[in-house]
Amino acid sequence: MPDSGGAALITGAASGMGAAFARHVVEHGGRVVLVDRDAGPVRALADELGPKALAVAADVADESSAAAATAAGLERFGSIDRYFLNAGIGSATPLIDETVEGFDRIIAVDLRGVFLGLRAALRHARDSGRPAAVVVTASTAGLSGSDLAAYSAAKHGAIALVRTAAVEGAPLGVRVNAIAPGSIGTPLMAAMEARLGGGPRAAALLHATTPLGRAQGRYGTAEEVAAVVDFLLGPAASWITGTVVPVDGGVLATDPYRLPETGP
Ligand SMILES: NC(=O)c1ccc[n+]([C@@H]2O[C@H](COP(=O)([O-])OP(=O)(O)OC[C@H]3O[C@@H](n4cnc5c(N)ncnc54)[C@H](O)[C@@H]3O)[C@@H](O)[C@H]2O)c1
Repeated sequence: MPDSGGAALITGAASGMGAAFARHVVEHGGRVVLVDRDAGPVRALADELGPKALAVAADVADESSAAAATAAGLERFGSIDRYFLNAGIGSATPLIDETVEGFDRIIAVDLRGVFLGLRAALRHARDSGRPAAVVVTASTAGLSGSDLAAYSAAKHGAIALVRTAAVEGAPLGVRVNAIAPGSIGTPLMAAMEARLGGGPRAAALLHATTPLGRAQGRYGTAEEVAAVVDFLLGPAASWITGTVVPVDGGVLATDPYRLPETGP
């Protein structure tokens, strides 16, 4: 959508879906606050995007660091009216093997980080009187049990926060939705491939986890996700709040009793 005045704040902006959405916003005339804990890559992206982009190195899990990121964006651009709360870290540890430290690390980034981002968005809308829209990156693992115990718990929690924030946000003019990506070809999926031994066989196994991936021999792309985020943050989604939109190649539609060797 064209620039509507305020900036878009994007967390996890240095890579994957966050970077793809940042490019999309700037290509369409918008301004972006790029928040990521990886200072080098997020500054490199801001340099690539030019004066419409501000890079802020910050940890979304840390209250003062997250608040400083929002403050820096407001100081530079005056107002923020779109938020893509997307920073997240993966985990592949089954519940039985998870440690307290590992569990807390995932919850801190993938759940507390979302809480801090939503709270900041609601407070800014309340204090400024300006409407806003928010998209939180959950996951298909936030809608079903999975072998990613802490991650799945955090993403379920993030969806609960989205629903609560949608109700609290409505009188403030803030719409809040989640996306549930599945099998998107980003560094996070590359890490999953590596855990499966890497190479074309690992990629093929992961492609085959989704109906569209099986049919087309690929992952979804970060740009395909960015298009959905743009829709949810824009005026065409003005009657949509509190929802979860899967962008998952159809994995949630899959028959849970389907045997792997039966097609299509
Ligand atoms: N790739 C997929 O298939 C998939 C599927 C479901 C959900 N997701 C979710 O999508 C989101 C984006 O992931 P991606 O696939 O683009 O991965 P990615 O690894 O390419 O990008 C994630 C970004 O988040 C940043 N980040 C991590 N922890 C942070 C923190 N504490 N503070 C600030 N920044 C932090 C990383 O530095 C990185 O730049 C994540 O929330 C992830 O859980 C991805």
